[in-house]
Amino acid sequence: MNQEIIDLPDWMQGKFIVLVGLMGAGKTKLGRIIASSFGLPFIDADSEIEKAAGCSIQEIFDRFGEDYFRDGERRVIQRILGAKPAVLATGGGAYMNEDIRKEIADHGAAVWLRADLDLLVRRTERRSGRPLLNKGNGRAILSKLIDERYPVYASADFVIDVSDEPAPETAKRIMTELIEHQMEAETSK
Ligand code: S3P
Repeated sequence: MNQEIIDLPDWMQGKFIVLVGLMGAGKTKLGRIIASSFGLPFIDADSEIEKAAGCSIQEIFDRFGEDYFRDGERRVIQRILGAKPAVLATGGGAYMNEDIRKEIADHGAAVWLRADLDLLVRRTERRSGRPLLNKGNGRAILSKLIDERYPVYASADFVIDVSDEPAPETAKRIMTELIEHQMEAETSK
């Protein structure tokens, strides 16, 4: 069955929609649904970093360390944002970088997927390959990352609470917010 493509609101023309949030928030899954609904390409920054490095993120951390990864992450995201607009899922640490935040603001809008600790713990327990979580107790690490990162994520253009509801429903809520943003812009003219 062909999927119905939803028209992009005017304000989104030529812009990236960039999903930010902690590991397990659902950036990749929701990004895919939103991209296909709007008829936009979907790009996963972590996959692009792995392609550029020729190895997994875990291997980059193991062999070269986090600083090296962050540097590659910044370069890959800058390259992506300089090309054709898409829905972009970033790795959880990307939005903490001031240069990346600025690039995102220049090329699109950031959507923070805000999730509570329990949800993130449950979801991240299901998947390995996240180097930051391999270093100790996952719940304690995620709790610390919430304290450090949520004040920064809060500067995103849109904040969406995520829960256990099915991903298509959450994606619909996000798209509704993006579309309603157009209406707000028009009524405030
Ligand atoms: C990281 C999140 C990961 C990945 C890397 C570091 C972070 O991406 O970029 O392991 O600093 O939060 P996801 O958020 O997609 O798991």
